[in-house]
Amino acid sequence: MHRSFTLLVMCAALSVSGCGRGKTDDRDARLRQAGPNPSFAALMRVASADAGAAKFGQCAACHTIEDGGMDRGGPNLFGVFKKPFATNSASFGYTAALSKAGGVWDEKTLNAWIAGPSALVPGTSMQFAGVSDPLDRADIIAYLRRQRPAK
Ligand code: HEC
Repeated sequence: MHRSFTLLVMCAALSVSGCGRGKTDDRDARLRQAGPNPSFAALMRVASADAGAAKFGQCAACHTIEDGGMDRGGPNLFGVFKKPFATNSASFGYTAALSKAGGVWDEKTLNAWIAGPSALVPGTSMQFAGVSDPLDRADIIAYLRRQRPAK
């Protein structure tokens, strides 16, 4: 009794990882659904924009994502999906490195960027170590894809 209570408290405390995460976003069930050694496409099929919204917390120190949101350390990201690199905010001072890299933000480029910005674009000013978990990246991409104007 005492022991399970302790476990419950631990789960509540670890809301972003371990048991807490499994409960809040069905991570384990989604990974099972994706199958063994899932490809990126398989992970995108089970990706959750709602889970990604929570995981966007690690981006929010530098990025707003609401329509009309201001730039912080990084540009506002509303509607960034399918935009050419370094164009989402008219007011942000992008690096020459990102402006000249030439590319469009789709699932594939975002996956590489979120995994390690400076590996995709050497010289970028996005000082971010990267998200190592592939399902976490897929969830964040699903969220970015959803945060854009309705057609
Ligand atoms: C420490 C601050 C910081 C954090 C944390 C951060 N970014 Fe950035 N981000 C930047 C900066 C600065 C740029 C502009 C890079 C440049 O001009 O080279 C940028 C650029 C971007 C762009 C390109 C926008 C465009 O218009 O081309 C995307 C997409 C992006 N970030 C996504 C993310 C996501 C998703 C996360 C979280 C997983 C994240 N960033 C975390 C600072 C940050």
